[in-house]
Amino acid sequence: MTRQVRFNAFDMNCVAHQSPGLWRHPADQSQRYTEIEYWTGLAKLLERGVFDGLFIADVLGTYDVYGGTDEAALREGAQIPVADPLLLVSAMAAVTQHLGFGITTGTGFEHPYPFARRLSTLDHLTKGRIGWNVVTGYLPSAARNFGAADQLDHDDRYDHADEYLEVLYKLWEGSWEDDAVVRDRERGVYVDADKVHHVGHRGKHFSVPGIHLSEPSPQRTPVIYQAGASPRGVRFASEHAEAIFVAAPSKRVLKETVRRIRSGLVAAGRAPYSARIYALATIITDRSDAAAAAKHEEFKRYASLEGGLVFTSGWMGIDLSRYDLDEPIGNVESNAIRSAVAAFQESGDDGREWLVRDIAEWASIGGLGPRFVGSGNTVADHIQNWVTETDVDGFNLAYAITPGSFEDVITHVVPVLQERGAYPATYSQGSLREKLFGNGARLPDDHRGARYRLGGDLSTITARYRAYAS
Ligand SMILES: Cc1cc2nc3c(=O)[nH]c(=O)nc-3n(C[C@H](O)[C@H](O)[C@H](O)COP(=O)(O)O)c2cc1C
Repeated sequence: MTRQVRFNAFDMNCVAHQSPGLWRHPADQSQRYTEIEYWTGLAKLLERGVFDGLFIADVLGTYDVYGGTDEAALREGAQIPVADPLLLVSAMAAVTQHLGFGITTGTGFEHPYPFARRLSTLDHLTKGRIGWNVVTGYLPSAARNFGAADQLDHDDRYDHADEYLEVLYKLWEGSWEDDAVVRDRERGVYVDADKVHHVGHRGKHFSVPGIHLSEPSPQRTPVIYQAGASPRGVRFASEHAEAIFVAAPSKRVLKETVRRIRSGLVAAGRAPYSARIYALATIITDRSDAAAAAKHEEFKRYASLEGGLVFTSGWMGIDLSRYDLDEPIGNVESNAIRSAVAAFQESGDDGREWLVRDIAEWASIGGLGPRFVGSGNTVADHIQNWVTETDVDGFNLAYAITPGSFEDVITHVVPVLQERGAYPATYSQGSLREKLFGNGARLPDDHRGARYRLGGDLSTITARYRAYAS
């Protein structure tokens, strides 16, 4: 059977997202990120292309590692100014029926109690199409503005996030029974109070004794997305994530990353394909290979190398303004994106060691994934080849220009993949989780969050609350 390929679109509530400088391209509309019509138009377009979802990244800080200030980031518009991702969802949900929404928020910046309610609200309003990309944050500037001297150490951020999720699972899965809302007009009872349970959480970081504020939404727990790639990050993703995002510059690196993640899932007691893995990629396509190559050259003329370095400095936690562009990437040590460093320390596919200039160039169009350039047929060949050789499930598509890059994919690549039987012609019914896995709207039984589910063992929850109260 032909292996299926899936697409997600990757965007952010800012200008040019991961393609610094390309906001100057005459066809780029990313400057319209402040207009609701940009987002509703994009959502409708992606649904026409049967994309699994729109994944909206977020950071709550500035890229001020490069040169030690945020000056270059501001000049480049490098993910600054940046606006809130969650507030975009209701409008997009109102003009679509199937598209999923993967929204990023960090575990370090908002207490889980109000956050649980906001996601339940969106899960209701989208009829179960909400996903949450769990990030632990990598920009020290974000932590500083929340009053900390610096962010927690890398692995401590994941331990903190583990407890954050535990609180959320308790609220989403373990507070309200499915039939708690009775709406009994005769008796004048809206909620059966016996069916709503205090979660009684007291941990190292959080204390949440009470009940969840929202009634159960279609998925209860939104589809959990994650992009950890360090050993601790992979363990976290394997325990929690249902969609995992990776960035790898070559097939070799991607194959190894996918292998590590699938073994991580098994080690966490889950099936190796219980999370869908999407690799970051940028597609530059047109009617013919020559037209696509010309488009690529044109994009390169607008792309900003300095913008590429601003981003990679932030991702790696190291000031690349201090390096010569022709210096080998070498042994970069950082407390930020270790996985990216590991990928770049290896030589590229051509056996040549990477230079700082290569990273700047690479990161200036679409971030740290591969670029597939060519006609619809050529790109479809690359994509199917990467899927076969690396065992990845699909691609998280960054844009060079928006919505042009997505329009091009939908015009030139999607029909070819559909003709080859490698891409869905329509959506299946139901919530985002059902569309991805087909096994019901709720978390599967082997997922860690299911432990907190109400069921046979209500006494544990009550006991937990008593223990908390005493
Ligand atoms: C495709 C992709 C998208 C990501 N989006 C975000 C994001 O929006 N916000 C964020 O803070 N981190 C984001 N990250 C960073 C990850 O959450 C994570 O910190 C990174 O992959 C490094 O993994 P590690 O923490 O295990 O070292 C993203 C990573 C990837 C690969």
